[in-house]
Amino acid sequence: MSDRLHTLSGYLYEYQKSVTQPEEFWARIADSFYWRKRWSKTLKWNFKDPDVKWFVNGKLNITENIFERNMFTMADRPAIIWEPNDPNEASRTLTYKELFHEVCRFANALKAKGIEKGDRVIIYMPMVPEAAVAMLACARIGAIHSVVFAGFSASALADRIKDCGAKAVLTSDGNFRGSKKIAVKGLVDEALEKSPVDTVIVYQRTHQEITMKEGRDFWWHDAVADQADTNVAEEMDSEDMLFILYTSGSTGKPKGVVHTTGGYMVYTKYSFENVFQYSPGDVYWCTADIGWITGHSYIVYGPLLCGATTLMFEGVPTYPDAGRFWAVVEKHKVNQFYTAPTAIRALQAYGTEPIQGYDLSSLKVLGSVGEPINEEAWHWYHTHIGKDKCPIVDTWWQTETGGIMVSPLAGITPTKPAYATLPLPGIQLCIVDADGNELTGNGVEGNLCVKFPWPSMIRTTYGDHDRCKQTYFSTYPNMYFTGDGVKRDHDGYYRILGRVDDVINVSGHRMGTAEVENAINEHPKVIESAVVGYPHEVKGQGIYAYVICDLTNRTEENLIQEIKDSVSKIIGPIAKPDKIQLVPGLPKTRSGKIMRRILRKVAENSLDNMGDTSTLLDPEVVKQIIEGRK
Ligand code: WTA
Repeated sequence: MSDRLHTLSGYLYEYQKSVTQPEEFWARIADSFYWRKRWSKTLKWNFKDPDVKWFVNGKLNITENIFERNMFTMADRPAIIWEPNDPNEASRTLTYKELFHEVCRFANALKAKGIEKGDRVIIYMPMVPEAAVAMLACARIGAIHSVVFAGFSASALADRIKDCGAKAVLTSDGNFRGSKKIAVKGLVDEALEKSPVDTVIVYQRTHQEITMKEGRDFWWHDAVADQADTNVAEEMDSEDMLFILYTSGSTGKPKGVVHTTGGYMVYTKYSFENVFQYSPGDVYWCTADIGWITGHSYIVYGPLLCGATTLMFEGVPTYPDAGRFWAVVEKHKVNQFYTAPTAIRALQAYGTEPIQGYDLSSLKVLGSVGEPINEEAWHWYHTHIGKDKCPIVDTWWQTETGGIMVSPLAGITPTKPAYATLPLPGIQLCIVDADGNELTGNGVEGNLCVKFPWPSMIRTTYGDHDRCKQTYFSTYPNMYFTGDGVKRDHDGYYRILGRVDDVINVSGHRMGTAEVENAINEHPKVIESAVVGYPHEVKGQGIYAYVICDLTNRTEENLIQEIKDSVSKIIGPIAKPDKIQLVPGLPKTRSGKIMRRILRKVAENSLDNMGDTSTLLDPEVVKQIIEGRK
């Protein structure tokens, strides 16, 4: 059943209703799903603890809403189209019926290995259909999945396994990425030395040599070999955990954002259908990795709940050449295409030549996500990819929000370059100043908060509820604080200005400055470090690290390389600093706090206005840092 809006007035009407009667609004949407038992109360909440429950006492299984609910009408419709890294390898298509049987077989395999409802399962896999099968099989049996981006290091993987107390790891022998073949199982083995699990299931992708530990490691194909292709789904409570996804914040280690079953299901389907204006038969492609929230909500759950055909791409935009995205669009006649500004900017750098010769006429909608899209990239995307006829949906949201919060509805909401435009129905935004006063009216700028719950919002941070409270619900009382700055222009349109906390957004990937600093500090020659973001032409933001270190027995060049390698090893290549400047000291206040504001200015090269430096312990340090800047 479709809850798609079709007109601007329809959107405005529904939005109003969603604010004045939120419970009635969401109950109506939720009623189109299949519940084993309908909920008794639509919403219970307070943002103080925080304690948010949607569709209270409702019983369901999210995979029944993907498969059983729709099986009569769309069994033979393609669910997943898979495009491999190598264009010469055959692509694969799984219909809903085929995907259902794969999910059931793997669900049975997990059960046979002793995985039960409530157990945590880590998924560290390449972009192959089996990764989606793994997620859905967990959901089928009530196990909580935690997908870890396969580009993270062994040590980052070990931290996540340990934090959630995982019982099993699902992985592959290796991954293909562009021209590279990456040895994955070896990293898993390394991680498991630190954080052991009972069971490892290995999907054979690259056929490279790996070691298998007797009694712990099993091949995927062996595990499913004798399993039945049907499975009775586990009955879940609406508020039972569906998954944990680790994300970086301003302090400490990444935290496990928890999403629950009922609300996440309702919101991801509703937002997918409306933002992308998906029609049955369309081919939809989101280029994210399933290791990020975008992959969870808008490659797997949202599209599949909608009965959509979702394309999964294993490779990278520039392999075998910079025309690959457009070759895939042409080959599979993609109708909706959803990517990140960093990919657009990277391809823009190759000019329009790689686009020539590809038929992009199937495209109807273009999407953007992960970071602010600059106007130049917006126009390039609109003109050269969308041929001036495809609306761009600039979708603002977060791991914590579970689904798209602010975005045009394609072809319905008039767009404005670089603006995420208007909130989706049910999303009550609020702009506040530094003291927490709400800034009403238009033409204002401040911090972005949400003042009313929505179904797919974060419920807790795994194993540490207080951290959830402190991070999101304590800065401003009774509000969820996003960490983003925003402007509401004279038309009431929202433009996201970027993070206002110590989070750096590198190519749409969130990195905590503290996390990178900790990794740098692990190098034995490093005494202290401070990390800030700076504007980067392709990545949006780059990582600039100021490091105090002991140079005995090292050249500056060697040490910088060693630090980069060590960060890659501790977190992953995405966290590698773009610039490292060795400094004699860091600008600190008398109370010992690093003045990051100054370091940001130096990194941005905007030295005219350094602001007030009178509280600095040693102003001389700033001069030395400026002289030595990269
Ligand atoms: C940023 C990704 C501007 C923002 C879905 C947010 C954006 C963080 C946009 C969340 C956008 C995401 N315009 N900024 N359209 N989308 N962001 O958790 O700073 O990986 O807080 O979720 O990305 O990143 P996350």
